[in-house]
Amino acid sequence: MKKQFGPSDALFPVPAALIVSGTKEEANIITLAWIGIVSSTPPTIGISIRKSRHSLELIRSTGEFTVNIPTASFYKEVDYCGIVSGRGNNKFADTGFTQMKSSIIDTPIIRECPYNIECKVTHDIMIGDWALILGEIVETHIDKDKADESKRGGIDISKINPLVYCAEVREYWTLGNLLGFGFNAGREIKTKLKDA
Ligand SMILES: Cc1cc2nc3c(=O)[nH]c(=O)nc-3n(C[C@H](O)[C@H](O)[C@H](O)COP(=O)(O)O)c2cc1C
Repeated sequence: MKKQFGPSDALFPVPAALIVSGTKEEANIITLAWIGIVSSTPPTIGISIRKSRHSLELIRSTGEFTVNIPTASFYKEVDYCGIVSGRGNNKFADTGFTQMKSSIIDTPIIRECPYNIECKVTHDIMIGDWALILGEIVETHIDKDKADESKRGGIDISKINPLVYCAEVREYWTLGNLLGFGFNAGREIKTKLKDA
């Protein structure tokens, strides 16, 4: 039996990422859960920001932003950046996060986040009160102690320990147990799930 739930924006889990906008002097941090990769060639990320956000003004003024993936231990700082606006507040000073210079763009990355993505805006599409901003990924950074060349993708996810967010219940989670590897991890592909 299922219960009809009606049209809803409920989707879970989602990431809880920190997006930096603006340049050094006025850099701001916003927490976003509505974010995802939308193309691999060119590598492109989509973020959805409500039109009232200070971050949207900054992203539109520079045409750039960075995406910073926090470890789960930062969930309180992540929540803070998702409650307080950068209008009249300095979220770097308030959280203790520090800026680090990006390689390609002028918007900084967050030093304390183990994975960072530099993006240049390519599209800005309004959907109701929300701006869907697409950014081409021009560089990525990973903390050396979280990189592992022996792993596919070169990242040790257990060391990154990313946050998982369930917006409908406003809960932050960590990842659970590793269940197995995906279809493209070099194994023979079975044509029927029951044969696997
Ligand atoms: C976990 C979490 C996820 C959020 N996701 C989004 C989102 O995807 N889009 C959005 O516009 N606001 C989102 N928010 C709300 C903004 O982060 C919040 O309004 C923030 O204070 C705006 O900051 P700013 O005015 O400095 O840009 C989220 C908040 C939290 C706590």
